Amino acid sequence: MKRRDFLTSGAAALATAPWLSPAWAAPGGFRSLTAKPGMAPLRGTGQPATAIWGYDGVAPGPVLRLAQGQEARLRLVNRLAQPSSIHWHGIRLPNAMDGVSGLTQEPAAPGASFDYVFSPPDAGTYWYHSHNRSWEQMARGLHGMLVVTEANPPRVDHDIPLVVDDWRLDKQGQIHEASFGAIRDWAHGGRIGNMITVNGTLDPEFTVRAGDRVRLRILNAANARIAQLGFPDHKPTIIAFDGQPVVPRPLGDRPLVVAPGQRVDLMIDMSLTPGSEAPVALALRDRSIAVALFKYAPGRPRRDHPLDAPLRLPANPLPGPLDLATAEEVTLRMEGGAMGRMTGATLKGRALTMRELVKAGKVWAFNGVAGMPAKPLLRIQRGRTAVIDIDNDNAWPHAMHLHGHHFRVVRRKGKRVAAAPWRDTELVMPNEKVAIAFVADAPGKWLLHCHMLEHQAGGMVTWIEVV
Ligand code: C2O
Ligand code: CU
Repeated sequence: MKRRDFLTSGAAALATAPWLSPAWAAPGGFRSLTAKPGMAPLRGTGQPATAIWGYDGVAPGPVLRLAQGQEARLRLVNRLAQPSSIHWHGIRLPNAMDGVSGLTQEPAAPGASFDYVFSPPDAGTYWYHSHNRSWEQMARGLHGMLVVTEANPPRVDHDIPLVVDDWRLDKQGQIHEASFGAIRDWAHGGRIGNMITVNGTLDPEFTVRAGDRVRLRILNAANARIAQLGFPDHKPTIIAFDGQPVVPRPLGDRPLVVAPGQRVDLMIDMSLTPGSEAPVALALRDRSIAVALFKYAPGRPRRDHPLDAPLRLPANPLPGPLDLATAEEVTLRMEGGAMGRMTGATLKGRALTMRELVKAGKVWAFNGVAGMPAKPLLRIQRGRTAVIDIDNDNAWPHAMHLHGHHFRVVRRKGKRVAAAPWRDTELVMPNEKVAIAFVADAPGKWLLHCHMLEHQAGGMVTWIEVV
């Protein structure tokens, strides 16, 4: 991985990044998002641009800001050569608006469009992305951050999105297409790239003043790479996971683990002196790299002591409480992958050997079924509590995402967990058992899958039905 050392990087400011200045077309009151090819300066100024697919032609797509509880009208315009749809990850919305190709809608054909109308009930940091051939369309750049603003947000000086992505580029700096669908990736950790960007570029800079308070909205939009972030010169406070507020707590010295699909909101007081520079670090196997830089303006600080304002976010109207005593409980055994014990699984109703599965592009299974089962994992009455016992019976970590609901972990490795954060995506480690619980309050068909997109495509996908 080539990267300028952050100590010697001075130029390449983010000021002109196209994704920060979205141009909206608004026929019929709809904000359109046009999925189309574009060129992205992923490797920074002075380097050849990379051909991508992006919303409005940029990657990541424009940051969408919606108001909590207010109707949003969004139109996908498909100018790709493939059908596509948009999923609004983490947003609780009517099932028909969930954007899952083949389950909640037919994808929009090339040249066609699809209208999404919903009122996001929860404020916080979410995202939107393609949900057709996600393993390819998202690897090419079809995703963006979705911010739902609080009516009364906490006071900050900057509200900064930080979208981590991981690209696999060839020697010419173009997307490595030959490895799309590579079964080796699918059976291992997924498509791990060779270049990490933040907000679509190397080494973006965030200009701040000493004494500023920053709200940093972190999203891991990578296909498969788990991001471990560090803030060596600052003392961040965690205020939300996956859009849902938590009691503010210091991050401390541990790395911040953000799995594919997850978000974390941090508050950071800019406590260094004017003129300072400080990195956002990302841990690789053998070293850390700077993936973004806070650049303190010279001159007078904005204030000489930290802002005296509450950090805590207002609560969201999540359904509750969980009724664990009468919950419907179901087990989800996750099998397969390299170094696993799986010898075969059912695919579209047929029992196949491992060799036959691999031929069909499947290397993973949930409860012995590879890919979408005809019947849901769980059919549950609206309003009841569900518990899913996730049993990760293989050698790989998985980022499990449930559509349409937020859940909380209630048991880990057999031990009860009290007051875990509400999340929509949970990282389940190799050979770990995790029980998640949620109130099934939204009628419809909701996907449950691994957000390592090659694992999803390779078989790790099922659904629940709320009736
Ligand atoms: Cu963020 Cu089914 O996905
Ligand atoms: Cu997985």
